[in-house]
Amino acid sequence: MKRTVVLAVDAEQPEPAAISQAAAALRQGGLVAFPTETVYGLGANAFDPAAVLAVFTAKARPRNDPVIVHLATADELPRVARQVPPQARLLAAAFWPGPLTLLLPRAAEVPPEVTAGLDTVGVRVPKHAVALALIAAAGVPIAAPSANRFGHTSPTTAQHVLHDLDGRIDVLLDAGPTMVGVESTVLDLTADSPRVLRPGGVPVEALERALGQRVPVGSSDGPARAPGQLPRHYAPQAPLQLFEGAPEATLQAIREQTQGALQAGRRVGLLLAVEDLAELGLEPNERLLVQTVGSSHNLEEIAHRLYAALRRLDGQHPDLILARTFGMAGLGLAITDRLRRAAEGRVTRVRT
Ligand code: TXA
Ligand code: MG
Repeated sequence: MKRTVVLAVDAEQPEPAAISQAAAALRQGGLVAFPTETVYGLGANAFDPAAVLAVFTAKARPRNDPVIVHLATADELPRVARQVPPQARLLAAAFWPGPLTLLLPRAAEVPPEVTAGLDTVGVRVPKHAVALALIAAAGVPIAAPSANRFGHTSPTTAQHVLHDLDGRIDVLLDAGPTMVGVESTVLDLTADSPRVLRPGGVPVEALERALGQRVPVGSSDGPARAPGQLPRHYAPQAPLQLFEGAPEATLQAIREQTQGALQAGRRVGLLLAVEDLAELGLEPNERLLVQTVGSSHNLEEIAHRLYAALRRLDGQHPDLILARTFGMAGLGLAITDRLRRAAEGRVTRVRT
């Protein structure tokens, strides 16, 4: 066990002393968890193979799952990518700092430990003053996956990080909850045409507008390409059953499933929009646990609150969790993607 040092920092104007302490830990090969605009990351010096391997050990993450490299500015791209195509320049100018990860040809300086031996590297500039100050002070690119135990829900607060990794990392910079709440969009720019491997904080529609072309979603060449697409990911402890379809029919199906489970003596957790509860006509009690994620009309709010709500619900130890999706437009695609992974295939498509 290590002693994990927790440093509280201001999210907009991080205290220089805390940043230098964390940056020194990174330069010495240590592990530092830090906030980004999406979720908390677990950082190591990307040029230090031993430190990068320690990230995998701390998370219990399989070594064949590549890690994203974080830069302070797009000017540093040549340090990690051996080629920066015009589309990468265009997207960096449009979306960085921000929740977009670009897959580019890996520079030789980036050790294979970072990319799980792949010839591509995922890179992004996060939109968070603490992350940017930390990367700049460290003076090296920072390799960072989400700061959760492998397979758990990604952390959107410092408390989530401690819950998963206390005693396994050196420093945690606590700047409060993250804004976006779902991870970055991963865009592959190394194939013939751009392709989203993981929907995330930048909607696909925004990428299509910027590039002036259709951008397909999903890996083209088999499951090995983006291991983040493993079904067992982002999952709570309790089995989650996901309902997709028109809102009214979906809520009707959730109501029936809930009543059946309650009658069978089970503890049911519901993950819902605020207005769903009244619509369902159900009262929360000690066997009916409810967490809401905001209004169904505000996808930003739902993404922002999703993981914390899942973790809270899971912490109440229901026998099962029932949840619904919020459409496929904009952030709805990333929200549905994460809920489907959490459901591990238990998806009911409700017909109207
Ligand atoms: O928002 C985010 O992206 C957060 C913050 C901390 O930046 N990071 C994050 O990292 O979510 P992680 O490791 O949990 O997810 C990274 C995803 C994985 O699905 C991984 O397989 C994919 O990106 N990825 C990274 N490098 C890749 C590469 N060279 N080729 C294919 N997929 C890659
Ligand atoms: Mg992750």
